[in-house]
Amino acid sequence: MTGDRPSWAPESIDLDRPNAARIYDYLLGGAANFEQDRVFAAKLLEVMPLARSAARLNRAFLRRAVRFCAEQGIRQFVDIGSGIPTAGNVHEIAQAADPGARVLYVDNEPVAVTHSDLLLKDTPGAEAMLGDLTDPGPVLASPLIDYSRPVALLMVAVLHFIPDSAEPHDAVARYVSALSPGSFLVLSHGVENPSLEGRAEVDRLYQESSTPGVRRTPDDITRFFHGLEFVEPGLVWTPEWRPDSPEDVGEHPEASLVFAGVARKP
Ligand SMILES: C[S@@+](CC[C@H](N)C(=O)[O-])C[C@H]1O[C@@H](n2cnc3c(N)ncnc32)[C@H](O)[C@@H]1O
Repeated sequence: MTGDRPSWAPESIDLDRPNAARIYDYLLGGAANFEQDRVFAAKLLEVMPLARSAARLNRAFLRRAVRFCAEQGIRQFVDIGSGIPTAGNVHEIAQAADPGARVLYVDNEPVAVTHSDLLLKDTPGAEAMLGDLTDPGPVLASPLIDYSRPVALLMVAVLHFIPDSAEPHDAVARYVSALSPGSFLVLSHGVENPSLEGRAEVDRLYQESSTPGVRRTPDDITRFFHGLEFVEPGLVWTPEWRPDSPEDVGEHPEASLVFAGVARKP
């Protein structure tokens, strides 16, 4: 396998183990993935055919939420678990609203950071860093972001890769306490649904990847927003969050599998 290692694949990554960033990239039609990621995605789609549309709906939520924050005057974005760059990246939306907007991308997957570096090399105001959501220190120390001014903090489809043992609620609270009033938390998260078909097989598959997943109940997801005020419509299925048109919601928003919300720091 390593003989096939493309020049953009950092030596530090294990090409033989599927990884959330690259599986998601493949589901969205990207090219920064390896055979093991594609094999994993094929198995995932077999047991849960909704996974691909769920990924697209999640990404569409991210784009609408960034646009919303830009409309509220936010000019600094910190995107943690940003993934591999794909169409409609945060800096593209934020800098369309204001070319001076700043965007810090953070991911713990080296392929995501390498690709982001390549994409951003001629983009002032946007940077990528290797970092872990559960270690706020380096992210909060980045000189790119002035935390004394409002920030949109994005944690989109990332917290469901962090088990309770790594204390994700405490980590999110540390970030939120560093934000200034008027900042926003933009978050989406896979929802626990005991009657979901293929659930056990999906869990078993992810256990074999380098990024096992964990779904949470709506109450547990709501706790990430502690101390913040939800903007309308609150915590809802991804297509229900401020859709561009009512038809975009569809008859089964729950088929998106993911809850999403945006909340403001008072
Ligand atoms: C499903 S992708 C979501 C990408 C993007 N946020 C979106 O919603 O379109 C999840 C990303 O979270 C990253 N990730 C997982 N655990 C992480 C952690 N502890 N710290 C930082 N990033 C993490 C993965 O590498 C992957 O790129």
